[in-house]
Amino acid sequence: MRILSGIKPSGRPHLGNYLGAMRQHIAMQNEENECFYFIADYHALTTLHDSKKMYEFRRGVVLDYLALGLDPEKSTFFFQSDVIQHAELAWILSTLTPHGLLERAHAWKDAIAKGKRELNVGLFTYPVLMAADILMYQPDFVPVGKDQIQHLEIARDIAKKFNHVFGETFKLPEAKVEASVATIIGTDGQKMSKSYNNTISIFADEATLKKQIMSIQTASLKLEDPMPIEGDIILQLYEHFATPDEVMELKQKYKTGGFGYGKAKKVLLDRILDFFADARERRNRLEKSEKLNEIMNRGAKKAQATARKTMNKVYEKTGLLP
Ligand code: ADP
Ligand code: TRP
Repeated sequence: MRILSGIKPSGRPHLGNYLGAMRQHIAMQNEENECFYFIADYHALTTLHDSKKMYEFRRGVVLDYLALGLDPEKSTFFFQSDVIQHAELAWILSTLTPHGLLERAHAWKDAIAKGKRELNVGLFTYPVLMAADILMYQPDFVPVGKDQIQHLEIARDIAKKFNHVFGETFKLPEAKVEASVATIIGTDGQKMSKSYNNTISIFADEATLKKQIMSIQTASLKLEDPMPIEGDIILQLYEHFATPDEVMELKQKYKTGGFGYGKAKKVLLDRILDFFADARERRNRLEKSEKLNEIMNRGAKKAQATARKTMNKVYEKTGLLP
């Protein structure tokens, strides 16, 4: 199977990104799959206009992925902006994309509803660039979190339109969403997201991680009271990192009372630190490595070769030939 996915370097990756996307990406690297994973820096540019931060986040996501187990020998790992054909194909696809299709996109409607100060055109055409990212590599599956399903539907609609107008060219991609981790909630009970300031980072230093976990919203109870299990954010997060026995044990402490949320948060913090301990160590080592550019250049070359093939087909179909 051919697998493709991208992650936007718009901040520090969090547990939602890990459970909803990155973990699946890494697990899919095996003999049966040919994987393409990229850092969607052109997409990040729709909201991030700060060169220092862009540099830091792009590099950060590369380090995070490699530390979590992405193997650049097994997967084609690259920066979107290193394969210029993404922008080229996005333009071609935009000439076939009905305006109304993009007006219905949740992310666009949200941006309007939130009265975002600057609604740039890139934000509006975001799904077209995403369609180009995907269709360029003709993947069978696109593993993403639930919030990206609509973008996948738009990519399929655009592919169908292209195929209808110019003849069979693009394979219709399918989203692959892991049901158990479709939406990871953040410290305030909403979907965990960089945009909501409610994240728990994967690789923040221990003090920051502690601060993030301590900020999880809880009920206000007396220490001796039993703590409700239903809807508890600490438990919901803990379930993703602990064994079923450990979860039962913590639930029992909730039911008995006299435990308190401070201790429960400490249990979660320790579990998360333990879960990512090896990855943290690998990340520290990689941070000093001088091989990152070489790894990304190699990935870009591999991706460019596939992109050129797709574009030759597109030139032929559209008549954009010399
Ligand atoms: P954010 O909302 O924090 O900006 P991104 O849009 O960069 O996150 O998402 C990167 C990937 O992580 C996507 O595949 C997305 O579906 C997944 N993802 C993001 N937040 C969550 C979440 N809270 N639960 C599950 N998956 C998530
Ligand atoms: N829009 C995705 C996100 O916010 C990132 C992304 C860009 C992507 N291009 C993609 C994901 C192509 C999958 C396939 O997370």
